[in-house]
Amino acid sequence: MIKVDIKDSLEAIQKVAKINQGKELKYSILTMGCQLNENDSEKLCGMMEEMNYIKTENLKEADLIVFNTCCVRENAEDKLFGKLGEVKKQKEEKGTIIVIGGCMMQEKHIVEKLKQSYPFFDIVFGPHTTKQFPIDLYHIICDRKRIEDILDIDGEIIEGLPIKREDTIKASVAIMNGCNNFCSYCIVPYVRGRERSREPKDIIEEVKELAKQGYKEIMLLGQNVNSYLRVERENKVPFEEYEGVNSFATLLRAINKIEGIERIRFISPHPKDFTDDVIEAIRDCEKVCKLIHLPLQSGSTEVLKVMNRKYTKEQYLNLVEKMKKTIPNLTLSTDIIVGFPGETEEDFVNTLDVVQKVNYEQVYMFIYSRRVGTPGDKMENQVLEEIKHERFDRLKALVEKQIALKNKQYVGTMQDVLIEGKSKTNETMLTGRTDSNKVVVLEGTDELIGKMVTLKINSEHMWYLKGEVME
Ligand code: 5AD
Ligand code: SF4
Repeated sequence: MIKVDIKDSLEAIQKVAKINQGKELKYSILTMGCQLNENDSEKLCGMMEEMNYIKTENLKEADLIVFNTCCVRENAEDKLFGKLGEVKKQKEEKGTIIVIGGCMMQEKHIVEKLKQSYPFFDIVFGPHTTKQFPIDLYHIICDRKRIEDILDIDGEIIEGLPIKREDTIKASVAIMNGCNNFCSYCIVPYVRGRERSREPKDIIEEVKELAKQGYKEIMLLGQNVNSYLRVERENKVPFEEYEGVNSFATLLRAINKIEGIERIRFISPHPKDFTDDVIEAIRDCEKVCKLIHLPLQSGSTEVLKVMNRKYTKEQYLNLVEKMKKTIPNLTLSTDIIVGFPGETEEDFVNTLDVVQKVNYEQVYMFIYSRRVGTPGDKMENQVLEEIKHERFDRLKALVEKQIALKNKQYVGTMQDVLIEGKSKTNETMLTGRTDSNKVVVLEGTDELIGKMVTLKINSEHMWYLKGEVME
């Protein structure tokens, strides 16, 4: 695997830290999109804090503002442009440094629009140039000349950048980056480059370190987690086996052995790569949560074919059956897109049918959004906006009905809940999550935070359950 040398980045961090010393400068970061982006933001925060910037949630008092953008759906673009409009005056009045990074910057037409309509930014960088951020920042501080730092490379593996994690109980660990699947609606393979996995040793050591620091839950991240190391094996890219890890299944087994870690989750796997060894590892590893996210996208075999998903409705349902049979207490969540080009009423009814049959714990629903440069955008049979919305509402109604029913089934059961902290809406209550990722609210003292406790569920609400500790 090609690991990038980050010596220059670390040197730049030191230089900026020296310039900033004693100035009490503040930074704000706005993160859009998926958990991989949040993980990247934690690295950006780590670098900024080492450069002596202090975090503030208040954009107005920031001396440095970083936008970490996403481009999976159109609404993120509107959000970025809206925010840029907001900070323009602040830039003019106090010279705030404006940095825009992330996936959206890998799209040429967006950078062009920025230059035309929002030319006051200082740095843009893409997902392949995160490590350049401190170097670019140093140059901006020194000579204030706008920098565009976007590379059209497939991306390498970057190890060793500082990281400042948001949470003290749950930590996310990226195990791979990029995607080779080219689903026809998706922009990710174009902006995050080719699929590449981190070395087993780097991941295992990172998780061990997190366990030492007291983290209890690990979320393994990647665009296609269950094909971890597959591309490397197929293309004979050398990697070093470590503690028996040479695949996703063996990675789960190795992390399961790490003392102190109590829960392991992962997103997102691809149904086509859900091999038996992974199913068996989930069954055998007591720390691996039995809620599995299994993106469906569509329940219609025809639509799935055009989406380039490489499975049929029946294959998906068979996989679910096999998983349900093998893994006791399995629960499932999924992603669904409604209104993909050419989706007919019959196709959509097939999606409803799968949702009905699988009975998901959680469904993330998206209205199809055209992405420049993807095959889906060029298709002529785009679905009318009002039909997309009408289908979305029907799917939502079905999902909400199923979830309400499921919630009722929790009442009276005992659940292992990892307590995450105080409730955001009520300081006197604590919140935690079940194995199936349901939020549970309870009364309890602070010493329960970070502990796994068995709760009796007393009542249910649409988005959370209420429970009590049994003595
Ligand atoms: N339009 C709508 N939803 C999309 N997703 C990805 N690309 C698009 C798009 N163009 C959804 C998929 C994916 C999730 C992360 O975002 O459901 O699984
Ligand atoms: Fe996009 Fe498909 Fe890759 Fe997921 S697997 S990132 S949906 S191309």
